[in-house]
Amino acid sequence: MSKKLIYLPIIVLIAILVLITSGCKVGKNKELNLYTSRAILTKETKTCIECHTKKQPSLIKSWQKSAHAESGVGCYECHGANESDPDAFEHFGFTVAVIVSPNDCSRCHSTEAAQFLASHHAKAGEVLGSLDNYLGEVVEGISASVSGCQQCHGSKVEVDEKGHLKAETWPNFGIGRINPDGSSGACSACHSRHDFTLAQARSPETCGKCHMGPDHPQKEVFEESKHGIAYRTHIEEMNLDSPTWVVGRDYSAAPTCATCHAGATENQSRTHDPGTRLSWNIRAPISFKTENSKQKRLAMKDVCLTCHNPNYVDNFYKQYDSGVELYNEKFAKPAKLIMDRLKKAGKVDPTPFNEKIEWTYFELWHHEGRRARNGLAMLGPDYTQWHGFYDIAEKFYIELVKEAEELLPGVTKDILARTEHKWLEGKMTAEERKKVIDYYSKRYGDKGED
Ligand code: HEC
Ligand code: HEC
Ligand code: HEC
Ligand code: HEC
Ligand code: HEC
Ligand code: HEC
Ligand code: HEC
Ligand code: HEC
Repeated sequence: MSKKLIYLPIIVLIAILVLITSGCKVGKNKELNLYTSRAILTKETKTCIECHTKKQPSLIKSWQKSAHAESGVGCYECHGANESDPDAFEHFGFTVAVIVSPNDCSRCHSTEAAQFLASHHAKAGEVLGSLDNYLGEVVEGISASVSGCQQCHGSKVEVDEKGHLKAETWPNFGIGRINPDGSSGACSACHSRHDFTLAQARSPETCGKCHMGPDHPQKEVFEESKHGIAYRTHIEEMNLDSPTWVVGRDYSAAPTCATCHAGATENQSRTHDPGTRLSWNIRAPISFKTENSKQKRLAMKDVCLTCHNPNYVDNFYKQYDSGVELYNEKFAKPAKLIMDRLKKAGKVDPTPFNEKIEWTYFELWHHEGRRARNGLAMLGPDYTQWHGFYDIAEKFYIELVKEAEELLPGVTKDILARTEHKWLEGKMTAEERKKVIDYYSKRYGDKGED
């Protein structure tokens, strides 16, 4: 007993000494302990962190939580640059660049980068040089384009003499941004810095920054759909931060945008090209089938079939096709024909957007027409009907046709004589109504295609 008591003060003394010395260490290296304990960081990155922790503690904390930090991928591994890079600059003894382009990410993620670069997403910056951009840059004004169009589509980032990015072109996280190194796109459009969480990339909110509004309301359509409702109800079961995310295995309660357009199933891997599952292009003035549309449709159906029965899915696609064809044949093609005739007759001049009827036609396909088609594609009945076909009908019959007739009397006569437009002439008998309905089901109904 007493022998043990003799050792006690010694043990206590040693314990105190250990505590004091380790305490000193903690105190001295407090900032270094902010970053991960598991991974080995390069000495360059350690230097960046030491200084930037004082400047932007939140930025460091965000990175610190990331899979990158855990794997030892730090500031220098992403921002380190070659002197020959157009946007490289000297920075406290290092050569760095602000932009981390798809080329930079591709050093470690070549599959994702290759798929992304092949997608329409990577080309979204090209619209900025097109005629469409006339509206944003000329009719409205360049600041509207810089903080509007270009924040979704991407700017062409320019560098000043000192290697700094010009304010007219950056900050910009548009999906098709044209980078100083010549590459296209911004991975950070979906992968937010600096935590780069998968949960965020898989959330509909991420896509909704761009895929929303009067001309492409995919986010709003999704929210009103049964899929969106199920997603909100079961968000805790969605397993959004799981390393693997195969529908039917890792989660099953609901699909998000990423599930249908990019996610993996047991039969196919995930993709960074959302175009590989689309059978129609429904944003064009007149919808058209994409290349290899059958194969692309099968890829999308494969996703649906993890939750639904084949008949159900086939019937859905029949409803979708028939709605798209109704839009094309009844409204979009005739509207374009009317516009072409007016232009040929010199009643509409070549300058875009300087005549009322040009705005009417633009809204018919670009706003109402897309709303209806997105409602059809993604189960939003209110977008199909009241924000869609209702507005299309009003634009077509009450605005476009009337404005065209004022400019060139008789220009719509043969079009309005078609069965589907006959109602406009006046009252219909019950028999005539039935004839029109039969005509619709023959023309737009089940054609036996898949
Ligand atoms: C001695 C402190 C210090 C060190 C070391 C340091 N930085 Fe910085 N960094 C700053 C300060 C201050 C700014 C803001 C002023 C500026 O742009 O120079 C900044 C800005 C930046 C910017 C934004 C520049 C811009 O134009 O918007 C990036 C990117 C950056 N640092 C990355 C790094 C990386 C990567 C490292 C390590 C290789 C690093 N920094 C090391 C202090 C430091
Ligand atoms: C996985 C790659 C990656 C890592 C690691 C990384 N960054 Fe970044 N960083 C980015 C991306 C992407 C951007 C956005 C720039 C762009 O548009 O490409 C960015 C932007 C920045 C900016 C400018 C934007 C702003 O909000 O001010 C600073 C400063 C910066 N990073 C500092 C750091 C520091 C310091 C570290 C280390 C803790 C770090 N980064 C680690 C990818 C990375
Ligand atoms: C130096 C190599 C390197 C670079 C450069 C790099 N990454 Fe990573 N990245 C990794 C490693 C390692 C992991 C963790 C292991 C894994 O998931 O593959 C990772 C993981 C990820 C993840 C998954 C995150 C998670 O929570 O599981 C995403 C998303 C990601 N990186 C995106 C990017 C983007 C976008 C860029 C460019 C802005 C980039 N990475 C640049 C190496 C890199
Ligand atoms: C809120 C983000 C956002 C803004 C702002 C925006 N767009 Fe878009 N734009 C998109 C999205 C998303 C699509 C794809 C729509 C779809 O597929 O339904 C698109 C499609 C397009 C297309 C069709 C591309 C194709 O392949 O058919 C053009 C052209 C276009 N936009 C030009 C512009 C111009 C010019 C402006 C500014 C006047 C602009 N956009 C403003 C998000 C935006
Ligand atoms: C349109 C949005 C979007 C863009 C742009 C995008 N990603 Fe992704 N990314 C996603 C989504 C969504 C996932 C998750 C897919 C899943 O798990 O089903 C993902 C997953 C990843 C992963 C998977 C990590 C892992 O360990 O599973 C990496 C790495 C990655 N992206 C890198 C990139 C790179 C590099 C770029 C740019 C070349 C890029 N992404 C551009 C949406 C995007
Ligand atoms: C920063 C803006 C932005 C974000 C974020 C974004 N997109 Fe897009 N998306 C666009 C633009 C712009 C286009 C039209 C590109 C073009 O054709 O010029 C587009 C096109 C598409 C297309 C049509 C592709 C094709 O080949 O026809 C699909 C599908 C799509 N996006 C799905 C998604 C999904 C799913 C997400 C989220 C995981 C997402 N997008 C995130 C801007 C964005
Ligand atoms: C249940 C699956 C599903 C979900 C969830 C879903 N989509 Fe879709 N999406 C589709 C289908 C099906 C189509 C039409 C495909 C075709 O034409 O073959 C489509 C079409 C599209 C298009 C094509 C428009 C064009 O111009 O051709 C875009 C863009 C798009 N979706 C974006 C989104 C976004 C953003 C979200 C989330 C807010 C989303 N989708 C949610 C299944 C889905
Ligand atoms: C992860 C599972 C999942 C996937 C994948 C999925 N759905 Fe659904 N779907 C649901 C759930 C859950 C409901 C709601 C069922 C209910 O209300 O009874 C639903 C409802 C529907 C409805 C009924 C809509 C309504 O307003 O009642 C249709 C049609 C539909 N889905 C078609 C599709 C199509 C087409 C695809 C593929 C493009 C698809 N689904 C992919 C889970 C899924």
